[in-house]
Amino acid sequence: MLNWEDPVKQFKSSDGRQRDIAILTPEALAAVERAEEKEATPHLVEVAAPPHPGVEAAIPEKSIGVTGLEQVEFGAQRLAVDDKQMINCRADVNQLVPFKYKWAWQKYLDGCANHWMPQEINMNADIQLWKSVDGLTEDERTVVKRNLGFFSTADSLVANNLVLAVYRHITNPECRQYLLRQAFEEALHTHAYQYCVESLGLDEAEVFNMYRELPVIHKKAQWAMRFTDSLGDPDFHTGTEAANQRLLRDLIAFYVVFEGIFFYVGFVQILSMGRRNKMTGVAEQFQYILRDESMHMNFGIDVINQIKLENPEIWTSSFQSEMSQLIKEAVDLEIEYAHDTMPRGVLGLNATMFEEYLHFIANRRCSQIGLPEQVPGATNPFPWMSEIIDLKKEKNFFETRVTEYQTGGALSWD
Ligand SMILES: [Fe+2]
Ligand SMILES: [Fe+2]
Repeated sequence: MLNWEDPVKQFKSSDGRQRDIAILTPEALAAVERAEEKEATPHLVEVAAPPHPGVEAAIPEKSIGVTGLEQVEFGAQRLAVDDKQMINCRADVNQLVPFKYKWAWQKYLDGCANHWMPQEINMNADIQLWKSVDGLTEDERTVVKRNLGFFSTADSLVANNLVLAVYRHITNPECRQYLLRQAFEEALHTHAYQYCVESLGLDEAEVFNMYRELPVIHKKAQWAMRFTDSLGDPDFHTGTEAANQRLLRDLIAFYVVFEGIFFYVGFVQILSMGRRNKMTGVAEQFQYILRDESMHMNFGIDVINQIKLENPEIWTSSFQSEMSQLIKEAVDLEIEYAHDTMPRGVLGLNATMFEEYLHFIANRRCSQIGLPEQVPGATNPFPWMSEIIDLKKEKNFFETRVTEYQTGGALSWD
């Protein structure tokens, strides 16, 4: 870990000025020294150097206003609420107010009001149960391990998609404010899985490599990668009908499918364990994550619908059929995941119940974004899931902890 004692190194940057890099690992320091010896400019210089006069001219016209970092026009006209747009906005993205999308700001406030940390959850009962010889069946152990395997990398995929692909193209500051909150929550989720793996003493290499080694998990991750890949391309810009559709497709893939369908077999399985008083710490972590995720998905659906409203030309009937097909493929993959994680009935659940459940939630997701239901009449075999998602803040359903977040680390001036 780096600390204040780490060496401070000075070097010459590309604009000819002397600069400090205060925090360098010994390896990075050696690399800078090697580069200096060869009188070459270290790569870091390019990143560390601030823009200098003339840099604006190098920015392509099409990106002006997107990042908000290109220029601050002195004496420009004040921002009006109608200047704001969800995508392709040319107005100042650094001015949070006046709000145009009040729902986005409200979601940011709600996210902050539901703050939690993985270490606050007591894992002692889980550790004892996991270590006991006959506390859990082999099938129950498979459910826990497979889900930690899937989620531990899935939340990182979502975070990377948000930060590296989505954030750049959503040109509205109140939505970006929520995206920043969401990105932190995704970090907390990955932290929560790591905390479970560490508490239970699982083989972390086995868990974190499942998306490369277990076909059923690999397929779900690979399915999502193709969407984030294209948007992460630095040369990609929205503004044309095809490019705007590409962004909308990525948002549907991640918010509606990945966070709205691919997470739900795992949520039901782990929360079912908690309801049977097994692995209650892991289940409580998942319960908080489910609540966050349901907010993420609802935010994504609002963004998707707003983009449709502002750009009706991209919601063509062929695009709608493509999206319906996408959701169908995803449901099939998730059904496969249910069979794989649960080859026999376990915890009073079986794979057939999940087929019904997935059709039920896919219907809901489709109607939320204006697509026809795929299996009309599908019912919810797990009505208790809705109660958990709608959970009020007073107490969680295991009644082990007051859920209202306390700012325990508040500063005191005494
Ligand atoms: Fe997450
Ligand atoms: Fe999420």
